[in-house]
Amino acid sequence: MRDFTVLGIETSCDETAAAVVRGPQNAAIMSNVIRSQIDEHTEFGGVVPEIAARAHIEVLDRIVGEAMHEAGCTWDDIDAVAATAGPGLIGGVIVGLMTAKAIAMAAGKPLIAVNHLEGHALTARLTDDLPFPFLLLLVSGGHSQFLLVRGVGDYERLGTTIDDAIGEAFDKTAKLLGLPYPGGPAVEKMARQGDATRFRLPRPLLDRPGLDMSFAGLKTALRTQAKKLEPVDEQTVADLCAAFQRAVSDVLSARTKAALALFRERFPDTAPTIVVAGGVAANQEIRTALTQAADEAGARFVAPPMKLCTDNAAMIAWAGIEHMCLGPVDDMDVSPRPRWPLDARNSGVLGSGKKGAKV
Ligand code: KG4
Ligand code: ZN
Repeated sequence: MRDFTVLGIETSCDETAAAVVRGPQNAAIMSNVIRSQIDEHTEFGGVVPEIAARAHIEVLDRIVGEAMHEAGCTWDDIDAVAATAGPGLIGGVIVGLMTAKAIAMAAGKPLIAVNHLEGHALTARLTDDLPFPFLLLLVSGGHSQFLLVRGVGDYERLGTTIDDAIGEAFDKTAKLLGLPYPGGPAVEKMARQGDATRFRLPRPLLDRPGLDMSFAGLKTALRTQAKKLEPVDEQTVADLCAAFQRAVSDVLSARTKAALALFRERFPDTAPTIVVAGGVAANQEIRTALTQAADEAGARFVAPPMKLCTDNAAMIAWAGIEHMCLGPVDDMDVSPRPRWPLDARNSGVLGSGKKGAKV
């Protein structure tokens, strides 16, 4: 099979990113440019969609130019343009997809509309040459789910959060305790000085079978404990952070073991691998808990480098390459989608309103 060189564009949340990737045989990330918008959103304590979309418009041309320059590529060297077409904040998705369409049209290249979650799901095949099938645990600010990755375009969601994503729960907890945004790193830092046993927080849904998770109640329980002790001193904040992080780690560890058991039932002849992706994968306690859970289950644990675990465009370019290998790609009519479940058969957990199923 021949190699393809694909330009990828990612704008679905608060990172404006462009990358050039070659593969699948001699796979190489030729450039991977990311501009984070954290500074624009910090004062609001979270991502503001309208500000995000405007910021993407302002810098995307330059970021694409940098990615092409760093890769040492001209348009002649590019085989296709891939962009995130959803799910995500729709303003940003529109900016990225329309830019990709314009480039594809002007340069006469095929367009690939990539599902952002698929980008996360396939990254480990770029970094670790992983064969199908495998399990993916995606834990970011927008998503918390277990996916069975059977092949390109063949995904089954085994479980998901029924309320907040884990990163979101970290961010809300930080806000509640007066810690800065993004909350994950701030909570982790405080937790290092805390005693995880001083407060007892729930392990939501663990008394139920299945792989779904819930984190909103955990945050509420933490708020109740904090209110009782107001004004909270620094040690109490640290203890609350440690208790919260321990509860999340316990839930993820238990669900990971159950997911691996399910994988073994489905694929008795395949050695199980679990891949973790998303910003929350940066958390050391959670990483250790997941590594142990995989060890105990006799499974391989794969965590791509952090820069490829969090939102980036190399994963979008790589997903584009995987699609190019399968044949014809998208036409120019493809629309941006705020919601786009990877697993169309199993997407009803959060309900499906007028706009279709939520992620
Ligand atoms: O994957 P990501 O960069 O962006 C998307 O949400 O798509 O993930 C960002 C999320 C934020 O909610 C952030 O608080 C969380 O990941 N995060 C962490 C840590 N670093 C980032 N959560 C826990 N511990 C961390 N060290
Ligand atoms: Zn993401």
